[in-house]
Amino acid sequence: MSIIQRRMLLAGVAGAGALILTQHGARAQARPGAAQAMRYPFGVPPLTYGYAANEPSVDQATMQLHHDKHHATYVTNLNAAFASYPDLQRTALPDILANLAAVPAAIRAAVRNNGGGHVNHTMFWQVMGGHGGAPEGEVLVAVNHSFGSLEALKEKFNAAGVGQFGSGWAMVVLDRAGGLKVEARPNQDSPMMDGSQVLFGNDVWEHAYYLQYQNRRTDYLNAWWNVLDWRRIGERYAEAKAGTLTV
Ligand SMILES: [Fe+2]
Repeated sequence: MSIIQRRMLLAGVAGAGALILTQHGARAQARPGAAQAMRYPFGVPPLTYGYAANEPSVDQATMQLHHDKHHATYVTNLNAAFASYPDLQRTALPDILANLAAVPAAIRAAVRNNGGGHVNHTMFWQVMGGHGGAPEGEVLVAVNHSFGSLEALKEKFNAAGVGQFGSGWAMVVLDRAGGLKVEARPNQDSPMMDGSQVLFGNDVWEHAYYLQYQNRRTDYLNAWWNVLDWRRIGERYAEAKAGTLTV
């Protein structure tokens, strides 16, 4: 039994923990590559498109620095934090983030910041590289049901991104019924930390846009919709409902 499982047991949440672990067991079978990225030693997943694929909305230099340097730094720091903790090394990162209180205090902040950075950016690369437009199928139904329209979702999402003081994220998270909510998170906090699944989200740290947009965060938020991959977001929605969404 891992230290995480022992502490979940002591905290009386063994049932919830076992459920999460079971779900990730299923995830490992469904998407082995993505699941491996969530286990120690962590690595930066390669982009499935070129650095220039999001031009002109997100420029090539920003993509390259963001993916190769910023995300890589979170991964390096996360691996360093785990180096002396074999129990953590054997546990999937989403399960650890879902129970941060069980992480040893000496590395809890490092795991929160760098583990959050790793899952947030892994999600972020997945939902970009597309051509924007509009969702289809079940995601379209969910967007219309939860927000009334795509335009209303964009307005709410961009307001969350602009309103996030300092660094953080604007996210669309799923509720238990498959409905959608817009939420902001500070720093590298992830909705995973409070048991929610992310459909998609945008990074509003200055490193995500400052080279191209300087202080114009609103312009970046507006342009970012042009590079969303709604096909992949549709897959993520189906995976979330099936319990196979890895990150
Ligand atoms: Fe970032």
